[in-house]
Amino acid sequence: MIPKAELHVHLEGTAPPNLVRRLAARNKMTLPERLFGEDGRYLWDHFLHFLKVYDATSSVIRTPEDYRDVTYEYLASCAEEGVIYVEVSSSPDHAAANGMSYGDHVEGIVAGIEDARDQFGIEGRLIVTCVRHFGVERSMEVARQVVDEPHPLVTGFGMGGDEAGHPPGQFSRAFQYVADSGLPCTVHAGEWAGPDGIREAIETLPVTRLGHGIRVIEDRALLSEVISRGITLEVCPGSNLATGIYPDYASHPVADLIAAGAKVTLSSDDPPYFATSIGKEYDDAGTHLGMDADAQIAITRNAIEAAFVDEPTRAKLMTRLDDAANETG
Ligand code: HPA
Ligand code: ZN
Repeated sequence: MIPKAELHVHLEGTAPPNLVRRLAARNKMTLPERLFGEDGRYLWDHFLHFLKVYDATSSVIRTPEDYRDVTYEYLASCAEEGVIYVEVSSSPDHAAANGMSYGDHVEGIVAGIEDARDQFGIEGRLIVTCVRHFGVERSMEVARQVVDEPHPLVTGFGMGGDEAGHPPGQFSRAFQYVADSGLPCTVHAGEWAGPDGIREAIETLPVTRLGHGIRVIEDRALLSEVISRGITLEVCPGSNLATGIYPDYASHPVADLIAAGAKVTLSSDDPPYFATSIGKEYDDAGTHLGMDADAQIAITRNAIEAAFVDEPTRAKLMTRLDDAANETG
């Protein structure tokens, strides 16, 4: 199996329907109606509706143990697909809405990462994210928590939510505050907003990566700028097709981005919502882009190079990748 690495996945969004049902039962909660379709999958019909369904399903994750289980089960499924490294993005705002402190939120996730490492040898780190449509004040509070309650496995900061309605510049204080403490940052940009949103993001926020970033393809000068700054793109083709940014794989810019020299990685974003997985993203790149084993290994190499991880761990991951590449080659 090709060794894989994933930089962009929303932890609360990794829980499949059966786990959400189990957590609801454990917490004696009744799930809102119409959360699942007749096919048993999550029911949502456009991106902003998806974000609301995400809020509803996240409400069953109420204790550190719940967060541990969501993390552990996701990493276990990744390990089965040959994944050696995952950065999960979590949302302390969602945890706080369920009465959980920042410290408990982090502690639960870290327990899941450590248990999965012990069990499967998969390495994991946590990116703490704020939510743009929760506003600038909340983003600053999350930033303060990240800095004031540091944890060795919390290695980055990011921001998700409604990109189209909330441009990035207003969040620069939160990002700068975290970056000043030494943590690297990423931000969703160029998914629901075009090149203007990307330009604003890279000019106002201290980011080394972009979540999605794909719509940089619409502005060649900006693409050159992104490449010359060494910014890595967390590309999630299955997500983009599911939410309707592009109608099919043939229209997706990932191949053009790679051809132009952009640093591209592959991720699943919110796998059970978008009917994908990190393994499927690699497989689909093989099927639809003709990416052979070497090309897929290059994607993993890009991810490890851009990972928010300490240098000894990065070197270990690179060795694992090289060893596997030598076996395949
Ligand atoms: N995009 C933006 N924000 C999010 C997502 C996503 O896919 N999932 C959870 N928050
Ligand atoms: Zn995302």
